[in-house]
Amino acid sequence: MVTKKNILLKKPKITDVKKLYDILGSSSKYYKLFCVLYTATSLNLFDNLEEFKKPKDLSDKIGTHPRLTHILCEVLSNIGLLNKKKDKYKNTKIAELFLKTDSDYSQIEVIKNLYNGFKIWERLPSIMKSGPLHIDEEDFFEDNLIHALAAEILTGELQDTVNIVARLPEFQKARKLLDLGGGHGLYSIAFTTLNPNLKAYVFDFPNVIKDTRKYLETFNADRVKVIEGNFFVDDIGSGYDIIFFSYNPGGKNPKLVPKIHKALNDGGIFITKHAFYKKGEGSKDPLLDLEWNLTKFEGVKKKDKIYSFEGDLYYEDYLELLKKYFSIVDIVESKKFSRLPLYKFGDVLDSKIIICKKQPN
Ligand SMILES: C[S@@+](CC[C@H](N)C(=O)[O-])C[C@H]1O[C@@H](n2cnc3c(N)ncnc32)[C@H](O)[C@@H]1O
Repeated sequence: MVTKKNILLKKPKITDVKKLYDILGSSSKYYKLFCVLYTATSLNLFDNLEEFKKPKDLSDKIGTHPRLTHILCEVLSNIGLLNKKKDKYKNTKIAELFLKTDSDYSQIEVIKNLYNGFKIWERLPSIMKSGPLHIDEEDFFEDNLIHALAAEILTGELQDTVNIVARLPEFQKARKLLDLGGGHGLYSIAFTTLNPNLKAYVFDFPNVIKDTRKYLETFNADRVKVIEGNFFVDDIGSGYDIIFFSYNPGGKNPKLVPKIHKALNDGGIFITKHAFYKKGEGSKDPLLDLEWNLTKFEGVKKKDKIYSFEGDLYYEDYLELLKKYFSIVDIVESKKFSRLPLYKFGDVLDSKIIICKKQPN
């Protein structure tokens, strides 16, 4: 029998402690690095390091503890976000481009979104007992997700997607576009920039639309208008040459297909970008499935796998349904437009862009 004393002299039989320690070690390191990044951005550290500065001058400026500020700068320099010259620090190119509040490609909302997500993950033990948290769907998107998504897609997905659409001959001729569940409206803004005769309409929940308006103002997008509503129940308008539908609950739902078809002009184009499940397909990622199930919406009911909702069709069946209403022009795989994953809601995974055309009667 193994007595308590024996364990002091005998290593565990399972020498595979490495497997566990790899998980714990990387969790430990990257959780702490995240805290550093979150702290640095929430204290506007990068906004104040455009030029070389001594940590003492920095701490005076941002109101932080001098010694801790010095050490924080050391950590940031160690991970490539600050340059060090003698006893002074300054942003590296990456920090300058992505971590300042007012930089065009600022990713600060992404950091906030990860932080908000971690606050839910911290409640995992109690959620495991009480079940998923009830979240109002509108609040979920309004909160900061829309801003985070806007920042994320600016790293490449937006530009790639817009180019895929702009190559269509129908795009140049289009006069009226609907961006269904368009959120931030960046796709519409980009589309109208590429086609000077195009007017775009961003359709979204009223709470989200008030944020859409801010983006439209920032980009001076006077040919992009907004429509407030719930696309499952409200009228989505008509006479569209293009309907663009990206990452929405409803992206695999059969009910919306006839509604979209009806709202399009003859010869109009429906572009849908979503992550689908093929028949018999398992999990795309169990960790993401768990995150997906930590919260639940009042309106559309989630199913167990990430991005799946009650009433969704499998990929094969959705394609068959589309073919009843449209002709399929192209199916573009995610490698043509994807951005880097963040292991959170919003990741592209194996999404596809399906482009289809409403045949003239
Ligand atoms: C994941 S975001 C996608 C935003 C944008 N289309 C993109 O691809 O980056 C989903 C958007 O759909 C909106 N949405 C979800 N359900 C909706 C509904 N029933 N009616 C209107 N908008 C909805 C959300 O408010 C949110 O702005």
